[in-house]
Amino acid sequence: MTTFEPGFLWGAATSSYQIEGAVAEDGRGPSIWDIFCATPGKVDNGDTGDVAADHYHRYPEDVAIMRELGLGAYRFSVAWPRIQPLGTGKADQRGLDFYSKLVDTLLDNGIQPWPTLYHWDLPQPLEDAGGWPERDTALRFAEYAQIVHEALADRVTHWTTLNEPWCSAFLGYATGRHAPGRQDPAASIRAAHHLLLGHGLAARAMPDARVGITLNLTHVTAGSATEADLDAARRIDGMQNRLFLDPVLLAEYPDDVLRDLEPITGLDHVQDGDLKTIAAPIDFLGVNYYSPMLVGHGASPSPSAYVGSEHVRHLDGGRPRTSIGWEIDAGGLSDLLLRLDRDYPAIPLYITENGAAFDDETHDAGRVAYLDGHVRACAEAVAKGVALKGYFAWSLLDNFEWSFGYAQRFGLVHVDYDTQRRTPKDSARWYADVIARGGL
Ligand code: BGC
Repeated sequence: MTTFEPGFLWGAATSSYQIEGAVAEDGRGPSIWDIFCATPGKVDNGDTGDVAADHYHRYPEDVAIMRELGLGAYRFSVAWPRIQPLGTGKADQRGLDFYSKLVDTLLDNGIQPWPTLYHWDLPQPLEDAGGWPERDTALRFAEYAQIVHEALADRVTHWTTLNEPWCSAFLGYATGRHAPGRQDPAASIRAAHHLLLGHGLAARAMPDARVGITLNLTHVTAGSATEADLDAARRIDGMQNRLFLDPVLLAEYPDDVLRDLEPITGLDHVQDGDLKTIAAPIDFLGVNYYSPMLVGHGASPSPSAYVGSEHVRHLDGGRPRTSIGWEIDAGGLSDLLLRLDRDYPAIPLYITENGAAFDDETHDAGRVAYLDGHVRACAEAVAKGVALKGYFAWSLLDNFEWSFGYAQRFGLVHVDYDTQRRTPKDSARWYADVIARGGL
């Protein structure tokens, strides 16, 4: 039997735009995702988050499900356009009240609330003013963070600033696969910096909070030991992992990545003192892991290779894939955790997302196998001394899977979008059992 320490935190995660719906209620303003979804051809099947899983109205039922599962914590995100519809100025009390009621309901049920302040739903007016490529957006984000923190700090201890700034910067501003759908590599690099700056400023704006950031990290391997393939792996590791980890945890940008980026943009947008701000002390690092990456030298149009794609090609590792097409490799997760422990020691880690898309309805053997393998990989890393303190499954509910719309289902709980009926899948029962036993 594989067990974790009694204090190990077991949770599940969601995000605002993916589950809430109610996009025009209680003063919520439009976000970049509302506009993106309304643009023909951007999201599969023309799907939108207008209704999603209707969590805005059904949160008491959803918290009851969490309680049945025995969750110790619930990671959700706060929709910035509910708090500041224009992205600036006075808060709309109705938006704050929604999250306040959610937090109270969680606490009444013995579940720790773990809010993330930004899971991609930027108020559209801030995008109209230039979005994340503009420095001002980082300043606005810190103000917003302060507002939410003041409203909930009496009940919330753990705060995550950003979810996956890699996606916001590069899928949002370089490949255009995500909102706001721009294709401007130089802007995407500025966006990455301003997201990180926003993180640091927000961390400072939340005194006494336990603060973290969630990054989508991956284990990168070269297809062969040739110099060219090793260099492709270095590039991807640089863009995907170190471009975010190094400034936050070591107060510096990696030199080799800056060299790779030089042909696209210089560093005029980085001001003195920014790196110190970005490296504001944090209390934990959130790790989202889904799939490993095997890369080689060559050109590929793949999103992850958006900048410098003339140098990197994604290779097929020959492993089974989930329905979204991502290769399954739990070993990549233990390798990643060991690497983080080696290169960035002393920062407590949480898996803030891990999960799988499968087409099956409620008998989801594929998802159970995926989660089982990855929880074992966590146990293996813990046994080797990694300071992993918790695990959040993605996702509590089936939800709006960004540019894939509703076609890809990641939930432990099935959602029938016609009736909004929730049905726990086999994976939910499996997870409840893991939580009850404290392991496998
Ligand atoms: C994101 C989630 C998303 C999941 C599966 C992560 O990149 O944080 O919002 O649903 O992966 O794609």
